[in-house]
Amino acid sequence: MIKIALLGYGTIGSGVAEVLDINHDSIAKKAGEEIAVKYILDLRDFPGDKNENKIVHDYEIIVNDPEISVVVEAMGGVEPAYTFVKRALLAGKHVATSNKALVAKHGPKLLQIARERQINFLFEASVGGGIPIIRPLISCLTADVVEEITGILNGTTNYMMTKMSEEGSEFADVLKDAQQKGYAEADPTADVEGHDACRKIAILTSLVAGSQVDFEDIHCEGITKISAADIKYAKAMGKNIKLLASSRMVDGGYSAIVAPFLLDDAHPLYNVHDVFNAVFVHGNVLGDAMFYGSGAGKLPTASAVVADIVDIVKHIDKNIVIFWDEKKLTLKDYKDVAY
Ligand code: HSE
Repeated sequence: MIKIALLGYGTIGSGVAEVLDINHDSIAKKAGEEIAVKYILDLRDFPGDKNENKIVHDYEIIVNDPEISVVVEAMGGVEPAYTFVKRALLAGKHVATSNKALVAKHGPKLLQIARERQINFLFEASVGGGIPIIRPLISCLTADVVEEITGILNGTTNYMMTKMSEEGSEFADVLKDAQQKGYAEADPTADVEGHDACRKIAILTSLVAGSQVDFEDIHCEGITKISAADIKYAKAMGKNIKLLASSRMVDGGYSAIVAPFLLDDAHPLYNVHDVFNAVFVHGNVLGDAMFYGSGAGKLPTASAVVADIVDIVKHIDKNIVIFWDEKKLTLKDYKDVAY
C-alpha cells in the first residue's frame, strides 16, 4: 500500500481525496498498488468531514514520516508551497502538484532535485486542468520540434466571456458566478489580468524549449477591458473574442504573448466555450494536434493530479526525465501574427 499526504484541503485537495475514493478499485489496479491518504495538512479543522481524523496542522509530521512516499501539494501560491515541496523531495518523497505559480517559478529546480534522487516531481494539473497536455509534450511529442502552442488556458475567463456573449451580461456579474462555481483563483486578479494563463504558457514553452521561460518576460494582457458591447460587435462580425496564450518559434527561438484576440470561425479555438480549455500544438513533423476538455474545477483538476500519483506509483524507483533546464531562455520579440 502506498501512503500519501495532501497539502491543502481546499477545492483541489478535497477533490483528490474524492477521486481516490470514488475510483479506489480501478486506480489500485492501474497503479498496481492500493493508494491511501494518511495525512491532510490544513490550517483548518473539518468537523464532520469523512477525512476529519487525517487532518494535521504540522508539516513536520508528514515530512518526517517514512511511511509517506508521495506528497500532493494543492495549497497554491509560491510560499510555503515551495519550501514544503523542496523539503519533501529532499526527504526522498515524490511530489505531485497542481500549482502553476510554483511550477512556473521553481519547476526546473524541483525537477533537478527529483532527478538527483531518482524520484518524481509531476505537475500535469498545473496547465489545462484535467486535459492531458504536459504528459503529451514530455512524452508523446518528443519526436517533434514544437513550433507553436496556442491555448485557451484559463477556464474562468473563457467561462466569463461565454456568459457575456450568450447573456449580454457584464464583467462583474459573471465573475461572481465563476467564483461561486469554484473556477476562479482565490484572488481572481490572476485570472482576469491573464497572469494565470501567462504562467501556464510559460510552463508549456519552457517544456518544449527545455529552458526556463520567465512569465514576467511575456507580454500579458487580460480581459478586464472587454465589455459586453465589444463581444456583441465581434459577434456581429462573425468572430469571437478569446483570451489566447500563445508561443511560437521565431528565428530558432520562441516568442510568447497572452492577450484577447478576435478569432474567426475557421480557427480551431473559436468554438471552445464555457470553462473548457483547449491547446493547439503544431509540431514540425506531426503537423497539428488539439487537446480539448475540462480546464478548471475540482474533479477535472483532481483527475490530473491523481493520474500523476498513479504514474509516480508506477515509477516509484525511477525518475521520469523531464528536460527543463534552469538556464533562462531569452524570448524573441513578438511579431504580429493573425490567429
Ligand atoms: N483559475 C484557473 C482557471 C483554475 O480558471 O483556469 C485552473 O488552473
